[in-house]
Amino acid sequence: MTSKKITLLRYLFACVCMLLALNLLIDYFADKSDVSSSFSRLSLRKVYRYNGTVLSSTGNASSSGSISHSNNNTNNNINNSLALNSASTTNVSPFANSSNLQQQPQLELHSNNSLNQVNGSKETITTEPLPLCQDPVIEESSPFVPNITLESLDVINDQLGPLLEPGGAFKPKDCIARHHVAIVVPFRDRYAHLSIFLRNIHKFLMQQRIAYRIFIIEQTNGKPFNRAALMNIGFLEAMKLYKWDCFIFHDVDLLPLDNRNLYNCPRQPRHMSVAIDKFNYKLPYRTIFGGVSAMTREHFLTVNGFSNSYFGWGGEDDDMSNRLRNANLFIARYPINIARYTMLKHQKEKANPKRYENLVNGINKIGNDGLNSIKYDIYSYKSYPTFSWYYAELKISEQKS
Ligand code: BGC
Ligand code: MN
Repeated sequence: MTSKKITLLRYLFACVCMLLALNLLIDYFADKSDVSSSFSRLSLRKVYRYNGTVLSSTGNASSSGSISHSNNNTNNNINNSLALNSASTTNVSPFANSSNLQQQPQLELHSNNSLNQVNGSKETITTEPLPLCQDPVIEESSPFVPNITLESLDVINDQLGPLLEPGGAFKPKDCIARHHVAIVVPFRDRYAHLSIFLRNIHKFLMQQRIAYRIFIIEQTNGKPFNRAALMNIGFLEAMKLYKWDCFIFHDVDLLPLDNRNLYNCPRQPRHMSVAIDKFNYKLPYRTIFGGVSAMTREHFLTVNGFSNSYFGWGGEDDDMSNRLRNANLFIARYPINIARYTMLKHQKEKANPKRYENLVNGINKIGNDGLNSIKYDIYSYKSYPTFSWYYAELKISEQKS
């Protein structure tokens, strides 16, 4: 090789290095606070895998046009999804509306705008930090009477939307919320229940002085319902929006009946749906953790979330109960006269006969079956006025034995 060629190669190499360094620098100084822009660098159609602390994507599941793509996919009957309930379904980033949410704690330290004064040409802005919210103290029995008449989702969205932030989020205006609660609802085929749930749960929660957001995680067709996997997905997706300190996993057919039932997370995981009318307001058994349950982010991470192995009805909550015991956590409960719920009527689900077998094996699989093994695809996302909707396709399947 001539010396001229070597010099040219050296120049080329130097150029490539400089370009790489420039790219790194741009990335380093990029404004990460704008979540939507950083999200747009990722493709929505990716299979997510949780690796302990950060989310990284593995595998590239085709193009970004998820809706048109889904129409060709027989496994995914979009007609059954909430997508059709709105005029336009978008593939937009889940964070499109996130800028006006309680994204960063420091955003909550907003000033009291009413104190802004205009002084001639000079504007003096006096800021007064808001006080911390106090948990409501309700001494006497305070029944919450749900309205269980069916109304269309559009009407519910129109009625409640103005009281909420887009995506079904809420935070008190006059104080800084102490509790930031993600309400995660695993969902499929229960549209009537969903609208009744939303019309009641917002009314119930808005008076609790908490910041919250409702996440509806709908499973696409094709595989048996996997409630636990959907809750894992809800956790991971919610964590992309905000570092919630409390997660409440909530069946869509359960409505609280007492205002003293505060939706926050204590030091131990809390089983909330203690007394359900369907079970004559009695706890069916001591270790039950189904229906509605609350866990801190730390609790959930400690136990590696739920097992993903429970396809079909039953057992996944008992598995979580075992995980908690294994981690020396104990199930706390409100008294039976507070933790009261009504269950909306539905056909009895066929129980998964494999659930006992799964439960026996479950205890050995905690470390490799859960948040760190879930694989899914967010097929579609939409921010509705009263909830954030994720249409999730599971990329894991039932183990054949
Ligand atoms: C199931 C649980 C369920 C409970 C109450 C148990 O047999 O394993 O998943 O929560 O019954 O319905
Ligand atoms: Mn039920």
